[in-house]
Amino acid sequence: MNPIPPFVSFDLEPAIAERLASTWTFSQASYPEEGVYFLQEAYLRQMIELTGLRAPAQKPFLACAAQIRQDDALSRLAWHCHWLLDVAPSEFRQVSVPWSIEPDGCRFFPAFIALARYPFIHAFYQERAIPLNILQESMTVVDVWTQDYYDHTGQWGCFREWIRMPMVPNLFRLGRLEFEFGSFTVPFRVYRHRETGQTAVMAAEGLSLQAAGFFCQPDESQVVMTTFEESAQQVTGYAATPTGRLSLQKTTLSLEEWELACKPGDAAIHVHIPALAPLDHDRCQEAIQKARRFFRRYFPAFDFKAFLCTSWLLDPSLDCVLPAGANILRFQSLFQLFPCVNGNDRQTRERVFGDPALPLDQVPQRTSLQRNTKKAILEGHRFRGSGGVIL
Ligand SMILES: CC(C)(COP(=O)(O)OP(=O)(O)OC[C@H]1O[C@@H](n2cnc3c(N)ncnc32)[C@H](O)[C@@H]1OP(=O)(O)O)[C@@H](O)C(=O)NCCC(=O)NCCS
Repeated sequence: MNPIPPFVSFDLEPAIAERLASTWTFSQASYPEEGVYFLQEAYLRQMIELTGLRAPAQKPFLACAAQIRQDDALSRLAWHCHWLLDVAPSEFRQVSVPWSIEPDGCRFFPAFIALARYPFIHAFYQERAIPLNILQESMTVVDVWTQDYYDHTGQWGCFREWIRMPMVPNLFRLGRLEFEFGSFTVPFRVYRHRETGQTAVMAAEGLSLQAAGFFCQPDESQVVMTTFEESAQQVTGYAATPTGRLSLQKTTLSLEEWELACKPGDAAIHVHIPALAPLDHDRCQEAIQKARRFFRRYFPAFDFKAFLCTSWLLDPSLDCVLPAGANILRFQSLFQLFPCVNGNDRQTRERVFGDPALPLDQVPQRTSLQRNTKKAILEGHRFRGSGGVIL
């Protein structure tokens, strides 16, 4: 047993080292001297196959594991993180594992910790008779974020906490989209027309709207403060328009015609869009239908009321920089759109230009979206991350 945590030599931030050190002796009691199973080459080759890790990343992935295997302190740290996440009694699991660490330059370190959970998740799928191809498809998230790491650094690595989500599991990839257990976290109530099935989205009270019907950013002037009134017969408030803004005029819905279908706090499926092939409309629609069936069949106790997505891709003003018929606009048409409180252009810049902080004279100009987005920002246009709901 190694009683001394070797964190100092890994150049970890003091706060992270302190957090990890507090439970070190407990994890080291079960450290497998004969070798850590999830760092072995055979195990990792299986992970390469399951995640579909792209060819150029495979060698660095395996080399990184070899480096950890050969270093007792690194192996113990890997075991410690795995132990905290997957083995420790719940009192110790409060100690969160830092996801952005790259001890000794091991850029796949967090990926190995996430993938250590494979035996658990495999058993979980089998117990519930969930087809294993869904696990495999969901695990491709590791490949997606490995590519993202490369795009940003020119090196192969993978550190996003996101990659652990399918292993918990709280995220499933079903065709083109990913779906996460969640709740309706936005300040809106969603109504369904009892006959037509049409959706109406009403804002909560006390939110500041600017002149175009978006929520005010700090430097924008408020023209309306939302209100919401409810009686036994009707509700009156500020409703989302078909184009994803909020109407500046109040709307009244008769509760004889409309029923409340989803409110803040209700169970909802969060929709995510992995950076993969083009966002084909039919494949997205299929994915939503598949998700409806999937959650009802395998997680019947999860009584979800809606699909919820918040993203730069749902910004209704993208229509000024995309051609009619663009995949992104067709994707928006799957949802009833609404503005997001604090919806700003950070994610738009991050996803379109690769880095939200890049000055406009340095942003890439390869695609029409990059060129049009730069031009629109220079002309004073504001992009705003937005939301969408599907009942
Ligand atoms: C979602 C995604 C696949 C959509 O791409 P798509 O299907 O090509 O979208 P469209 O057909 O609407 O694209 C129209 C134009 O915008 C460009 N474009 C689309 N997304 C782009 C992006 N993220 N960066 C730069 N240009 C982009 C396309 O290349 C095309 O331009 P072109 O005709 O000059 O080639 C793509 O944006 C992507 O991979 N994003 C990363 C994942 C993401 O943003 N997830 C959401 C996180 S909340």
